[in-house]
Amino acid sequence: MRILDLGCGPGRDLACWGVTSSDQVVGLDIDLGSLAIAKVRYPNQAYLQGVGECIPFQDESFDRVISAVALPYMNVQKALGEIHRILAPGGTLSLSLHLPGFTVGELLHKALPKPVATIFRLYVMANGVLFHCTGKTVGFLRHRTESFQTERGMRIAFTSAGFVNFSFERALGPTGEAFTVEARKRK
Ligand SMILES: C[S@@+](CC[C@H](N)C(=O)[O-])C[C@H]1O[C@@H](n2cnc3c(N)ncnc32)[C@H](O)[C@@H]1O
Repeated sequence: MRILDLGCGPGRDLACWGVTSSDQVVGLDIDLGSLAIAKVRYPNQAYLQGVGECIPFQDESFDRVISAVALPYMNVQKALGEIHRILAPGGTLSLSLHLPGFTVGELLHKALPKPVATIFRLYVMANGVLFHCTGKTVGFLRHRTESFQTERGMRIAFTSAGFVNFSFERALGPTGEAFTVEARKRK
């Protein structure tokens, strides 16, 4: 199976996502420093710099896209449109996302009382509320984007991008509540 790890960061073992050694995995991330680390950690895997909002691959080049807590840092509607484009018909998308509680925690425990960090976290909260209502996000200064996701917002965003068969799962993990989502491109 051809798999894209979107927003791969410094690389991670994807076995928990059901990826096996017979799969061909390509990691894509905006950050060159993270990619350099990933190449050392997983030398047999291919890595490329690029952004989720303009994925540098042809239409229908992958059977599956996995993205672990990277979509919250992208323009969600643009990235989902790109993921849909590069997936083959019937291809699947697996995501882990940020719930509102993550952003509230960042605001209370990391941002306050620092003014710049607090303003940014308030933007992230407002962007999450916007996403919940419309399925769309907006950028902050210097093209920085962040939001939290909700099931309602993801349903709207998936429908707009053309995905079907959505499923949502919440589970308590070591770093708080994990929110994972699956969807499929129509055959
Ligand atoms: C929280 S890290 C997760 C990294 C990795 N997936 C993991 O699970 O360890 C988010 C990653 O998304 C990447 N990222 C942020 N915005 C991006 C964008 N627009 N396009 C591609 N990658 C992006 C960051 O560079 C970072 O590596």
